[in-house]
Amino acid sequence: MLHLNKVSYHPTATPQPIIEDITLTLKPQTLGLIVGTSGSGKTTLLEILAGLAEKTSGEIHWNTEQLTSEELQQLSGIVFQFPERHFCGCNILEELRLGHPELSANRVQEALTEVGLEQISYNTPPHALSGGQQRRLSLAVQLIRQPNILLLDEPTAGLDWLMKEQLVNLLTRLKEHWTLLVVTHDASDLVNIADYCWRIEAGKLEAVSQDSFPVKAKSRLKL
Ligand SMILES: Nc1ncnc2c1ncn2[C@@H]1O[C@H](COP(=O)(O)OP(=O)(O)O)[C@@H](O)[C@H]1O
Ligand SMILES: [Mg+2]
Repeated sequence: MLHLNKVSYHPTATPQPIIEDITLTLKPQTLGLIVGTSGSGKTTLLEILAGLAEKTSGEIHWNTEQLTSEELQQLSGIVFQFPERHFCGCNILEELRLGHPELSANRVQEALTEVGLEQISYNTPPHALSGGQQRRLSLAVQLIRQPNILLLDEPTAGLDWLMKEQLVNLLTRLKEHWTLLVVTHDASDLVNIADYCWRIEAGKLEAVSQDSFPVKAKSRLKL
């Protein structure tokens, strides 16, 4: 269980805190969704949870253990917005093993299977994949490290409706095994599969019910 207690991020250079007194709990094998407009602090919050930025106050716990940034780096896997822009392996195998050359062939295969890319040849360059497959690969790059929390920044941004639907189906499957925290400016793609929802505004978080977000007509039909 991930628990944040009054986490703030207030660099001395900024007049207002960028993240202010955020308290939230995320249970294992659930998907938490944080919705907010551009500049509300979503990416900053994920960077703190990924151990890439240092909170200025508050506590972050995993179960009973309080975590430092270094520990968060081990515990979390972050998939940045437009992750495909940052691929740097020559092929899928290299991309998955970047920084972890010791990972077994088995782990590589497991990660690709988790995201439905098991049929793709290891020699395929990441850029030769379709847009939807590239998003899947970037999820596999994090899953291969077996993170306790998977952090996703705007995972549906820039995808067409079919790719979005496939990604939403994949995230629904992934939350059976993993704990996911997703931030987005557009709730409608993901609100149906969220177990908990929050709204973030000017760095402040408030829990809200799923019903407070408009759902796309197409998703409504499926329900
Ligand atoms: N290190 C920083 N120093 C000063 N301002 C920052 C820093 N990081 C982010 N910001 C500002 O904090 C706010 C939140 O940014 P961000 O987390 O990227 O929002 P979002 O992801 O919701 O669009 C923005 O106004 C941004 O300009
Ligand atoms: Mg952002």
